[in-house]
Amino acid sequence: MKLKDKIALITGSATGIGRSTALLFSQEGAKVVLADISKEAEETVREIRAAGGSAVFVQGDVSIPSDAQKMVNTVKESYGEINILHNNAGILRICGDLSKTEESDWDRIVDINLKGVFLVSKYTIPLMISSGGGSIVNTASMAGWTVGMAGLAAYCASKAGVVGLTKCMALELAVHDIRANCVCPGTIDTTLYPTQFLKHGGTQDELDAGQEALAATIPQGRYGTSAEIAQAVLFLASEESSYVNGQALVVDGGFSNQ
Ligand SMILES: NC(=O)c1ccc[n+]([C@@H]2O[C@H](COP(=O)([O-])OP(=O)(O)OC[C@H]3O[C@@H](n4cnc5c(N)ncnc54)[C@H](O)[C@@H]3O)[C@@H](O)[C@H]2O)c1
Repeated sequence: MKLKDKIALITGSATGIGRSTALLFSQEGAKVVLADISKEAEETVREIRAAGGSAVFVQGDVSIPSDAQKMVNTVKESYGEINILHNNAGILRICGDLSKTEESDWDRIVDINLKGVFLVSKYTIPLMISSGGGSIVNTASMAGWTVGMAGLAAYCASKAGVVGLTKCMALELAVHDIRANCVCPGTIDTTLYPTQFLKHGGTQDELDAGQEALAATIPQGRYGTSAEIAQAVLFLASEESSYVNGQALVVDGGFSNQ
């Protein structure tokens, strides 16, 4: 077991990448706190407990300081310490060209995707230091780091910000035996983009055709899975990456190399 008796906080763990990470961390021996704005994460908690693992749910919005603090307090009250933080909560909104992007959309995207990482980290760091060190893994994206994406400027800017923030964390925290890295997923088969596409009036047929065309542009010929991203997060969270610090690990089926 790669995370035996480690205590981990995972934000955005109701669905997709965060849910897969919570399940994998638990299988690897960690006790996990699942933080999410959605109560759906309770289902994953039940699943983990049914399999013999230890898990707790805390509801909150990572962009609200008191909620971020509540997430960390829940970890402290439940398990006393923290060894791993996975800042994963994020949203995507299709905003159109920059000149048409609504300020409210810009603010919401940056507040959750970037400020949320700052807030949850800010409250976690003192507890992680007193726990003797640990590992922080932030979910950034290939979008904004290795590639830009038209119509997604706010999202790309927020994720580029996460990479910058991660590099600073690595420098500030190394002295406390805390490493900070980020994972940069490519196109992953979660509901993140499909939900937005359908919300903007796209049909299921158009979505299916678009996804097939996009998959054909990925060297490996397919989308990644949330389980594959969870494996990369596990590597960065565990001692297997003990000398990896301040890095952005791109997991995109080779897309960014074109
Ligand atoms: N799916 C992809 O192709 C892809 C690619 C690159 C990066 N990412 C990033 O991966 C992360 C996870 O996305 P996913 O694809 O699993 O999508 P998802 O929608 O399945 O998961 C996002 C989770 O974050 C939660 N969440 C949203 N806003 C929140 C808030 N304010 N506070 C707390 N929780 C909140 C949601 O309830 C959900 O459980 C995000 O940061 C996303 O930007 C995804």
